Amino acid sequence: MVSDLDALAGERVVSETAEEVADAVATWIAAQARKAHADHGSFSIALSGGSTPRLLHGMLAGPAWQGRIDWAWWNVYFADERACPPNDPASNYHLAATTLLRLVPIDPSRVHRMPAERADLDAAANEYSDLLAGSLPASERGAPRLDVILLGLGENGHTASLFPGTPALEVTDRWATRGRADYEPFDRITLTFPIINAAAAVGFMVTGAAKHEALTATAKGEVPASRVRPVDGTLAWFLDAAAAAG
Ligand code: 6PG
Repeated sequence: MVSDLDALAGERVVSETAEEVADAVATWIAAQARKAHADHGSFSIALSGGSTPRLLHGMLAGPAWQGRIDWAWWNVYFADERACPPNDPASNYHLAATTLLRLVPIDPSRVHRMPAERADLDAAANEYSDLLAGSLPASERGAPRLDVILLGLGENGHTASLFPGTPALEVTDRWATRGRADYEPFDRITLTFPIINAAAAVGFMVTGAAKHEALTATAKGEVPASRVRPVDGTLAWFLDAAAAAG
């Protein structure tokens, strides 16, 4: 049977429940970390915010995954951040810190927060872009190469804070830039497409029937998430049955 998601680029992994999606993503991340560590002695990952990653973080920090991850390899970045203080419940850093990073032995100096609380968001984004360039290897096309980028999908087809019709979609000379959401907090910092598409592996986590339409639009090339196409890397969609079937 032809699915309206068949045109989605990359691999599709459909699990029955959101919990099984989280476990599939955790397994995938662990495999990418082992591969990266074997290849270059470290592992870099950019986390996304929103609500979907909460289950994954809880699993990675929980008893089922105790001892299965070598956190000493990890260098943590962010795919985007809201313009709010890092201790604000709306902050993606706050989500990651409270549900994962403070619960596992990751050296805080290896967690690179996007300083989106700064008044001058453009300067903050440029500083983050420089930090990415200064701490990651360059890909063949010049953008810094992350080992893994975890992304979510908004119902309007945005990913990270790359929202439809915003200037951030067209930034090609910097790896982080100011973003503009259509819901609070409106102002953001986001990774740009060049660095997303320079990653060794990109994984989308998408759950719930409400996301099916955005998945279909992504498959049709109609939304920002459609432009995630790693140049020299892999792309995987981790979906639950509700998101996949609508
Ligand atoms: C953010 C996220 C954003 C998120 C999608 C999906 O800052 O909001 O990075 O890109 O991944 O909006 O969010 P949910 O997981 O809450 O559906």
